[in-house]
Amino acid sequence: MKNILENIDDVIDDIKKFEIQSITDKLEFQRKFSGKEGLLPQVLSYFKNLESSEKRKFGPQVNRLKNAVEEKIRTFNKHLIKEDVSYFDPTRPLDLFFPGSCHVLNLVTEEVCAIFNEIGFEIEEGPEVEDEFYNFSALNFPEDHPARDMQDTFFLDVTGKSWLLRTHTSPVQIRVMQSGKPPFRFLAPGKVFRCDHDATHSPVFHQIEGLFVDKNVRFSDLKGILEYFAVRFFGPGTQIRFRPSFFPFTEPSAEVDVLWSQYGNRWLEILGCGMVHRKVLENCGLDPEEWRGFAFGMGVERLAMLRYGIDDIRLFYENDLRFLSAEMDH
Ligand code: DAH
Repeated sequence: MKNILENIDDVIDDIKKFEIQSITDKLEFQRKFSGKEGLLPQVLSYFKNLESSEKRKFGPQVNRLKNAVEEKIRTFNKHLIKEDVSYFDPTRPLDLFFPGSCHVLNLVTEEVCAIFNEIGFEIEEGPEVEDEFYNFSALNFPEDHPARDMQDTFFLDVTGKSWLLRTHTSPVQIRVMQSGKPPFRFLAPGKVFRCDHDATHSPVFHQIEGLFVDKNVRFSDLKGILEYFAVRFFGPGTQIRFRPSFFPFTEPSAEVDVLWSQYGNRWLEILGCGMVHRKVLENCGLDPEEWRGFAFGMGVERLAMLRYGIDDIRLFYENDLRFLSAEMDH
């Protein structure tokens, strides 16, 4: 298969030269190239499982192959229609070669979870409708702290209780720590909600939370794991940096940037992280002298935008078929 990818021009030549004059020719073309067992689907499924560096290398070739096949079928169909408008072949497969594919946000979420899964992180979930305790108080946001305004929250007006749509996945930390016994090592992917809407903000977006609590966990463990993740996700040689930051639920806190050479060697932020604040451990009934942990939270849209060069967050939700096509698998 690799051989085919490396010599894609010869294959494209064969496709271009292939004469389709009749239905029989077309069926033969489909058998060889576009049909279920034809070359194109085989190449696509082989490509899907390549390492990301190889995907980058062979992506353009695969696209050219796909375009060549589609172009051939399109020309034939047009030609057919011109020649004989009354012709109708009920067995003719659909003109459009339009396989569906997984949404980019799901691809990214699955890939991040798989990377952490391999190193022992489990997957947890929490509710999208939370209360102030889990979303803020237990995470050490003081009652009158401006941080509560920082995140423009959708409050739900239900008498007697202050429900809200969770503004981040961090409340899952509290739910898991309260309901089990350490050590904890998990990722919690899910939807989060904030009153915000422009090219880089959506009122609904996705985050992946990570938590690791055990004895003697240190900041260097956090650094090592996130560096490992960045290289696995963005490819070998990826450079990251930790920038001091503030979150009420971690101390010390940091934000992590990736050095992005395609965008003029800029550092772009991918996540927030830090050592779990001792108050958060206490709020979950854990003794901070005995247990320590680190946590991190990343935006799935942000990771996808960087990885696929997408510059408008709204594209993820508009159901533009070009965006949803199998090409986004690459
Ligand atoms: N919850 C933060 C946010 O939505 C992200 C975050 C920062 C999560 C640091 C963490 C963390 O677990 O340690 O902006």
